Amino acid sequence: MDKPKAILFDAYGTLFDVYSVGLLAEQLYPGHGTALSQLWRDKQIEYSRLVTTSNHGAHYRPFWDLTRAALVYAVKRLVPGQADKPDFDSRIDQLMNQYRSLSAFPENRAVLQQIKDAGLVTGILSNGDPAMLDLAIKSAGLGGLLDHVISVDPVRLYKTAPEAYALGEQATGLRARQIGFVSCNAWDALAATWYGYQTLWVNRYQLPFEELGTQPHHVGSSLRDVRVFL
Ligand code: LAC
Repeated sequence: MDKPKAILFDAYGTLFDVYSVGLLAEQLYPGHGTALSQLWRDKQIEYSRLVTTSNHGAHYRPFWDLTRAALVYAVKRLVPGQADKPDFDSRIDQLMNQYRSLSAFPENRAVLQQIKDAGLVTGILSNGDPAMLDLAIKSAGLGGLLDHVISVDPVRLYKTAPEAYALGEQATGLRARQIGFVSCNAWDALAATWYGYQTLWVNRYQLPFEELGTQPHHVGSSLRDVRVFL
């Protein structure tokens, strides 16, 4: 396979640490921080699939709204009795505010710069809606390092719908096989491989890959492993 001409990154979980909310969650709901951040994330992805696969996306809601709905669900499920407390909404708001400017992984900037220095196009291809991506990118200081910020929002279908992955080809003017796609989410790396991208799965948490018979083209442990594409 030829080296890719562009590298696209997943955003949440890949450039931005979705589990960094665990600390605040622990302060607000002692004893539940870690479980809450995990169920919140799992439910967010489950909701994105639910609205994409039901009635051809008729139930689409922006990722920010799904993220809030998933958080409400996770708190209700893990911390019974919370929904009746007067400060329920304000605690949800605090966590959502934190989600607006999630911690970015420390190697992000250097890796994006390295890709640009190698003359390749950079970008994000994310389920996030444009407003939340814009804020996350600004707060992480990544603005000048990204040629494309591609949200699935215009097609109102979340990954892993092929229409969502196709946006990467449309934005760059390249075919999927000419594009490297980087994700820390195994399901995303798998579906991007199925779609036709050259893929790097960054396995930050030493997890097994999905057991569905297809492997990503490359596996790494941090974003620095994008060097396999350069
Ligand atoms: C995204 C989700 C997968 O950024 O986290 O697309």
